Parts: sequence; C-alpha cells; structure tokens
Amino acid sequence: MTAEFELKKLIRPNILGLEPYRCARDDFKTGILLDANENTHGPALSKVSEFEETLELNRYPDPHQIDLKKQLVDFRNEKPNEYLKNISQDKLRTDNLCLGVGSDESIDMLIRCVCTPARDKMLVCPPTYGMYSICATVNDVELVKVPLTYPEFDLDYEQVLNTITKDASIKLIYLTSPGNPTAKLINVSGIIKLLEAAYKNWNGLIIVDEAYIDFTDDSSEKTSQSMSTLVNQYPNLVVLQTLSKSFGLAGIRLGITYSSSDLSYYLNSMKYPYNISSLTSSVALRATNPNTGLSTMKNYVKEIIQQRKVLLENLQELDRVGRNIGGLDANFIAVEILDKDGNPSNEVANKLYNNLAVHNSVVVRFRGKELNFTGALRVSVGTAEENKTLIEKFKKCLSEL
Ligand SMILES: Cc1ncc(COP(=O)(O)O)c(C=O)c1O
Repeated sequence: MTAEFELKKLIRPNILGLEPYRCARDDFKTGILLDANENTHGPALSKVSEFEETLELNRYPDPHQIDLKKQLVDFRNEKPNEYLKNISQDKLRTDNLCLGVGSDESIDMLIRCVCTPARDKMLVCPPTYGMYSICATVNDVELVKVPLTYPEFDLDYEQVLNTITKDASIKLIYLTSPGNPTAKLINVSGIIKLLEAAYKNWNGLIIVDEAYIDFTDDSSEKTSQSMSTLVNQYPNLVVLQTLSKSFGLAGIRLGITYSSSDLSYYLNSMKYPYNISSLTSSVALRATNPNTGLSTMKNYVKEIIQQRKVLLENLQELDRVGRNIGGLDANFIAVEILDKDGNPSNEVANKLYNNLAVHNSVVVRFRGKELNFTGALRVSVGTAEENKTLIEKFKKCLSEL
C-alpha cells in the first residue's frame, strides 16, 4: 500500500482542530495593561538592574517572537543550501519557524503533532542522539531502527525507503546531520533523494536535526550545507537547529524548527504560548544580530574548527589511541581507545574515561555502547588551553593503564 504525502492526513485530528491560544495582547499592546493577571508592581527582586528593567520581567513574554525569527531567517537565507544553486528559490520566511525550549522541545513537539500513542512509530538511524528514543518512549511511540551505513555513517537510503513504504504506521524519520556521536554530515543528495521518493510513497516527515551544522567547515562563501532553506521546496522536510552549540548559548534553551508554513502553523498552535522567556529572547536577539552577535559566533566556529584539527592530531600521536570514528563536521570528535593488541576496547576506554574524570578533572564521554562505536570516547573541542591539558592528562592516564 502506498500513500502520497498529505499533511492534513498526517497531523493528528486533535491538533488539526486546535484553536491556538489567544491573549488580549495579540490585539492591544499599550495602555494600562490589566488583562493577564500579572503583578504590575514589578518583579520581586530587591534590586532590578538596568538590563532587567528593559525586559519588563513582570510581563509575559512575546508569544510570537517575530523580530528574533526575522534575524534567524535572514541569517540562514544569506547562504542557501548548495542544492538550490541552480533552481529558483523560495526563501525562508518567519512563518516557516517555530521556536522551542531547546531543540529537545522541538523533537518532542513533532512527535506529539503526528504520532498517536501506542499506535504510530518513528524511525531513527543509530548510532544517534539519545533524546529521540527518550521522547519516543515518553510518548508511547515505537522506535524503528535502520542503522547508518558502516564505516561511512551515512544514510542507508534503500533500507530506510524500504522500511517506511512497508509500514504506514511510521510517521517520522529522525536524521542527525552532522550526526551525534558520529560528527559526520549525511550526504545532502541522499536526503533529497529520500525526500523525493518518500513524498510519492509515504505519508510522513523527514526531520533533519542540524544541531552541529555550523561546524561543517563548508568553505563556500555563497552556499551552505544546511537544509533549512529547503523547507519551502520540500513540504515533507523539517529541519531542527539550536543556539546551544555554535552560538554557545546552551543555557538560554532556544531551539528552532523550520518547516513548511502549513506545518509551522500547527506547531505554533500547539506550543505553550510563552515558552520563550524574555531573558532568552533578549540574549538570542543579541547573538543573532547581523552586526555583532553573528560575527562573534563565526569567529568562535573558525577557532573551534582549527582546534578540532590540532586536537585530533595530538590525540592520534598517543599510544593506544586508534582511529577517528565518524567525521570531522561537529564541535567534537570521537576516537577509538585500543587494548594491548590494538583492538578497540570498551573496557580500556571506560577505564580511561573514569581515570580522567575521577583523578584528573577532565570529563569526556564514553560512547562505546553505541552501535559500531566500540571503544569510543567522544571529546568536545575546547579552548586551546583546555585541549592542551586534555592531551597531557590523556597521555598520563594512558601510561597508567
Ligand atoms: C543532535 C542533537 N540534537 C539536539 C540536541 C539538543 O539541543 P538543545 O540544547 O537545543 O536542546 C543535541 C544536544 O547535544 C544534539 O546533540
């Protein structure tokens, strides 16, 4: 049985019929505002700084965040996907966006939008980010797994297409590009092929989680690897991004969902109206400001990409450090830790991980239990100084094995 993509049949009926929450301030923004049961005396803080004053923290935040969305779309439109080079483009607009409390909220929201608990399924490609499985379990949605190819850690196009076209209860595919823990960009052409084939044969969404997209070291001045600018071309495509990585703002919790304006309408209807706090949006506006924040972010990314190379080279000079597993498209790398015979070993990797954390105050991540990641430690790229210390401690702990 095959089905074409049809958004209205995909969205759960309870969401389709949802009346978005409205507040009086959608219509009236000025005057004596006594409409939202706020405390008009002000925030219960003994001192309010000048910065806090400007935020009007006693008021509910803006539910729509159009200024922030505008900056985000301008930034992504600046360098469209390289695939769009030769075709006419429908640029991103603010109505393609839904903002969330980190992309973790976006992951959960998409599941709740289309998957009926205890009936529908979603597909992931291990090794992959752990929150997909947690959100699936919380929503009582079965997880179907089609591993990434090995050793390339790329999309297994045939297997994914075969699986979704045989099982209409699969409603979502979560791809991570660049991957976590693989740090490997999935081939854009493979995802496009899947989007096109799936559109004709399957009613579901392909979600590309681009948490690490700014670290792909795309040297092209004019185009990028991000698929966010393709959502108006492909209605079955959803792209997730976050300010937690390249923007260095994991603490403010801001995630971005890019999708067709039709799907975005439903996502925005579902979300808690005030999910983006005034503190978060104020910082996010500064970070995505084209004249200030963006250049700071770009400089950090440049530095991290340089350090990534140095870190890997230094690690690989050490005895018992084997291959770099996966790719070099993120702000972390994964390396194999070897036993005495030169084989990747979870036992040795775990020992090293513990010794580093317990006795040397350096915390990395053991990822050896992930599919095709035996013996793997995942290391975030730090500052030059942090990386130098990490290498010294690695060397010391390896000699103690
Ligand atoms: C692939 C991937 N997606 C999403 C996230 C979560 O991002 P956020 O901080 O925006 O919730 C992470 C965090 O590590 C990640 O690795």
